[in-house]
Amino acid sequence: MKEKSGPPDYSEIIAYEKRSEGKQHHRGKTSERLLDKVAILSALAIEFAQTILDAGCGNGYMSKEFSQLVGPSGRVYALDSDDTGIAVLSEETKGTNIVAMAGDITTDTELPASTIDLIYLSTVFHIFSPKQVKGFEAEVKRLLRPRGKLAIVEIVKRTTPFGPPLNMRLSPEDLRHTLRLAALDTVEVGEYFYMQLFENRSSI
Ligand SMILES: C[S@@+](CC[C@H](N)C(=O)[O-])C[C@H]1O[C@@H](n2cnc3c(N)ncnc32)[C@H](O)[C@@H]1O
Repeated sequence: MKEKSGPPDYSEIIAYEKRSEGKQHHRGKTSERLLDKVAILSALAIEFAQTILDAGCGNGYMSKEFSQLVGPSGRVYALDSDDTGIAVLSEETKGTNIVAMAGDITTDTELPASTIDLIYLSTVFHIFSPKQVKGFEAEVKRLLRPRGKLAIVEIVKRTTPFGPPLNMRLSPEDLRHTLRLAALDTVEVGEYFYMQLFENRSSI
């Protein structure tokens, strides 16, 4: 896909959000143009041969970045609940180290326990119900290796030209209070977005 250069055109995004309201799947809904990929990748410090889970991967643009960084001996699971999008991504990534899978990160994904170095969840957490948050936390703890990391990208909890209603948003503090994982840094990853990092310190 050809990348656009320059700052994001927020009016395009607002118009897109209006068109998407009420749609059942989210294939076209991506935060790609809004996020600072360089800041994200630098904070994640991904290493060769790691195993990464891109949960709620959307069109998989970050899975493709991770794929390059972990190399042929690493693996990227690109998981999304939208099977239509996953079918497309699966075709696109055939023969690579990306495994595209339909699934729900708030339940048992059936991936093997304690095998994941990094779980990346971008612009998904705010839609989880309290029950899904509990399920998500349990699955994250099951999947992460000791010292494995969780990275959650979310929109800031203040008025912005686009995005979900304020009462659905979470601040980094909200995330740190909600999840029982050791909190690491909070990083700015775009004009309106932050990334909160956590580490799995159980069984160390
Ligand atoms: C706003 S899009 C974000 C896509 C991508 N992460 C990004 O940053 O552009 C949210 C994605 O999360 C997926 N999703 C929502 N709930 C999910 C769940 N419980 N498990 C897996 N994927 C989920 C949706 O299908 C959608 O593709």
